[in-house]
Amino acid sequence: DTEILQHDGLGIARAADLLSAGRLVAFPTETVYGLGADARNGDAVAAVYAAKGRPSFNPLIAHLADPAQARDYVEWSDRAEILASAFWPGPLTLVLPLKAGHGLSTLVTAGLDTVALRVPAHPAARALLKAFGGPVAAPSANPSGRISPTTAGHVLSGLSGRIAAVLDDGPCAVGLESTIIGLASPVPTLLRAGGLPQEALEAALGAPLKTAAGSEVIAPGQLASHYAPRARVRLNATTAEGDEVLLGFGGITGALTLSATGDLVEAASRLFDRLHQLDAMDRPIAVAPVPEVGLGRAINDRLRRAAAPR
Ligand code: TXA
Ligand code: MG
Repeated sequence: DTEILQHDGLGIARAADLLSAGRLVAFPTETVYGLGADARNGDAVAAVYAAKGRPSFNPLIAHLADPAQARDYVEWSDRAEILASAFWPGPLTLVLPLKAGHGLSTLVTAGLDTVALRVPAHPAARALLKAFGGPVAAPSANPSGRISPTTAGHVLSGLSGRIAAVLDDGPCAVGLESTIIGLASPVPTLLRAGGLPQEALEAALGAPLKTAAGSEVIAPGQLASHYAPRARVRLNATTAEGDEVLLGFGGITGALTLSATGDLVEAASRLFDRLHQLDAMDRPIAVAPVPEVGLGRAINDRLRRAAAPR
């Protein structure tokens, strides 16, 4: 059975011991709950793919306790330093060239010559990473293709019995996965829109990021259909039609709302919880338009994937 651990000293120590024993532990970050495994242990990382039912070996993010540890795994650069000092710890993932002797399982990198690194800001995540003392590979703690988890309850509803433990520390504040920036190519590239707005990154770099068309994701393994509730999802709706439940935003009022005041930060933090609630209603879903600015870009990216044909 899956243990539910509290985010106190005892719970953190138990979670770290389980990771050291090669077991899987879901833990909170400020973005979403991650499904953690020792990133140096190939069997443990393989168990992550099995627990999620992830269809192929797409690369995972290695989570670190401290920005200084990044240099143990990757070729650091001036641009990496600018972004890390501005935004780590926080909802930012950097993809950098692997360094010789990095010690990470090739299942973490899916055999690429780069690795995605993140230093989360969440106090329980930081305490766990510090207690464990090594890199933790962690995708979002949901069955592959399903809605990402922003509470321990979401994690258990998808993965109960398939993982050793979940460390519970309530809802995630940001509610969207980290923004992923590729720094292995000459021009910094937005690989996934996420919890850190593109505008903030461009201001820190003093230059525009390279992007795919719109906020389309070009990280490997990102499927068009993802974050998917069971029901059909219709976007840019102003009213519910037929049996639909309307998820509102701002002035468009639905049965549920992302943010009645049109606040994108609130909408981001609620997005996955609202999709989990709608999933449980088992009726077709209509979603009000969300502006394509700031966190709205990442919200729309997730909504487009939830609405994509499967
Ligand atoms: O907020 C987050 O990032 C959460 C929390 C738990 O940290 N994690 C997360 O992991 O969203 P996951 O596995 O759902 O998404 C990781 C993404 C994938 O799209 C993968 O393709 C990309 O990171 N990625 C990993 N390594 C990469 C690499 N070397 N090059 C390009 N993309 C990479
Ligand atoms: Mg995911």
